[in-house]
Amino acid sequence: THPVLLDVDTGIDDAMAILFAVAHPDIEVLAITCVAGNTSLENVVANTLKVLDIADAPAIPVAAGSRRPLIEPARSSHVHGVDGLGDLGLPVSERTPDPRHAIDLMRDTLLAATEPVTIVALAPQTNIALLLRQYPDVVPHIARILFMGGSASGGNATPVAEFNVWHDPEAAAIVLDSGAPAFMYGLDVFNQVVIAESDADALAASGTASGRLTAALLHSQMADPEEEQATDAAGPVYGGHIGDAGALCALVDPEALRIGRHPVRIELAGVGRGQTIVDRRRRVGEDVHHGGGGEAAVIDVALDVDAARYARLFLDTIARLP
Ligand code: BDR
Ligand code: CA
Repeated sequence: THPVLLDVDTGIDDAMAILFAVAHPDIEVLAITCVAGNTSLENVVANTLKVLDIADAPAIPVAAGSRRPLIEPARSSHVHGVDGLGDLGLPVSERTPDPRHAIDLMRDTLLAATEPVTIVALAPQTNIALLLRQYPDVVPHIARILFMGGSASGGNATPVAEFNVWHDPEAAAIVLDSGAPAFMYGLDVFNQVVIAESDADALAASGTASGRLTAALLHSQMADPEEEQATDAAGPVYGGHIGDAGALCALVDPEALRIGRHPVRIELAGVGRGQTIVDRRRRVGEDVHHGGGGEAAVIDVALDVDAARYARLFLDTIARLP
């Protein structure tokens, strides 16, 4: 099994990722940390606790972290509704958040674990950057930082920048520079994994609370005209994205991905701010010109995915929940 720390901005697709992580037998969620992103920190914490209730999850510690990026103010999108979770009117949870700050919960969890832990970062990387700056002694306890963020092609927040990196580019740069092994699950794969409307309807009819929630989250995306339209070889696909849940599919089923190992750096200035510049020109080890100062971090980048396989994995995993 993979012991993981989840860092989230719940968030419609973060909610689906939490459900998946709780359900999958090869994933052990040690703790969940929250950060401002899709919605305010308060909403993220409340939404995360509600999702754990619906999954009937065990008592997993959930802690609040940063309420804004390192430099800029928070700029949540309205794609996820006023409450950040599609305004579904879910009951308020009686679980209480852990009193520690997110970075202290992460540090304590990492140092107490009996094996290195994967940090799955599904949000702007503010908490992770603060953790690495404040407690660099945790790095040997991190198996890998698997982050949803960035793109080797175009962006969604801007023409070139993906939302999580765009929301806190300095944090993403600190994480890449930390020396911890990183794995980028970016828009190149994120946008591909879609649940067809008929499968979402079947989930809604499945009779479980988790199935009904997942279907409602998928349907709320389908109703949103601003949502990115997915395509497959046959053309546009009508459905809902599993989004961040795909990063957890990447953890348990990396064989469905085409992965490249490339130098990646974060653009911090001007119109390109928040872009992940993925250098796919040559193989690592050859003499390449990076531009700018310093070395680019060489990391694994997911470039393509067997999307139907992840859609099936997602549905089968959600079906395990009550
Ligand atoms: C990312 O931004 C958020 O809207 C989603 O939850 C996902 O983590 C996609 O760019
Ligand atoms: Ca997210």
